[in-house]
Amino acid sequence: MTRKITPKRLQEIADEITERIAGESERGVVADYIPELAKVDLNRFGIAILPVETEECIVAGDADVPFSIQSISKVFALTLALEKVGATLWSRVGREPSGDPFNSIVQLEYEKGIPRNPFINPGAIVLADVLMDNQGPDKAIEQILGLCQRLANDQSMRIDGDVAASEMKTGGRNRALAHFMAAEGNLRGDVEDVLKIYFHQCSIAMSCRQLAMAGRFLASAGHLSGGEDPTVTPERARRINALMMTCGQYDASGEFAFRIGIPAKSGVGGGILGIVPGIASVVAWCPGLDAKGNSLLATRAFEELVRTIGWSVF
Ligand code: DON
Repeated sequence: MTRKITPKRLQEIADEITERIAGESERGVVADYIPELAKVDLNRFGIAILPVETEECIVAGDADVPFSIQSISKVFALTLALEKVGATLWSRVGREPSGDPFNSIVQLEYEKGIPRNPFINPGAIVLADVLMDNQGPDKAIEQILGLCQRLANDQSMRIDGDVAASEMKTGGRNRALAHFMAAEGNLRGDVEDVLKIYFHQCSIAMSCRQLAMAGRFLASAGHLSGGEDPTVTPERARRINALMMTCGQYDASGEFAFRIGIPAKSGVGGGILGIVPGIASVVAWCPGLDAKGNSLLATRAFEELVRTIGWSVF
């Protein structure tokens, strides 16, 4: 793996990728099952690369335009849930890839309401339940947003209220998942309160630059910059990365590992957060999705980036 690469060269690569993506005519489709997300311009594209040893983020395209982070929020919710309940979390959610779509219900019935992993929707709904505990939904939402702000060292990011309202209105599938888990005894709080947390965390809006900063602790063995106390232990960072690698792109996780080979988490807003352990965090965003709900061109951008530089955990 080529570890040392100058910021100048990284900038050239980011610019080249951005230019090539702009010329693509096949751009995927926006996530119209959440009507508010369907309004986003398919031509948007941004990329941010943040090496672990510097504060200088390499950016290109729309890297400073906030977008809906959607399922990428599950990484931050998992970090908080592990902090809160530690390894007992694993009695309520598994650590295996599901091989099914992110909003599938079929496995939940066979597996008695225990979701396969924290990154499919039912898994993230269990995380929301863990985070709510006895404190109510608003406090838990505040904690997730607060973690993102602290990690990114940026208080300006917000929850997009229109996206949250859109999800609340159209979230029938997530309601079905939540009620099923409640019936199986794996959801303890009020279903609508738990879903409120989940819908709001998905509606956090962040730019590529902010998200690269927020995710960087996973590239630097749990450390924030500047020698502060670690956000998580190195072991926990490794394990979150392992889950991102095996489960982060749902039923396309194997394909993503095959083509790109780094831990990553996608969201139906079109963003992907990728972690090159020990080297950098990378975010690419392009709103059009492929058939599995992952950004078509952000995936392509990652593929070009890692091929050009030789970044891979393998
Ligand atoms: O619950 C949903 O369906 C969305 N709020 C999040 C799904 C998502 O981002 C899956 N990602 N690829």
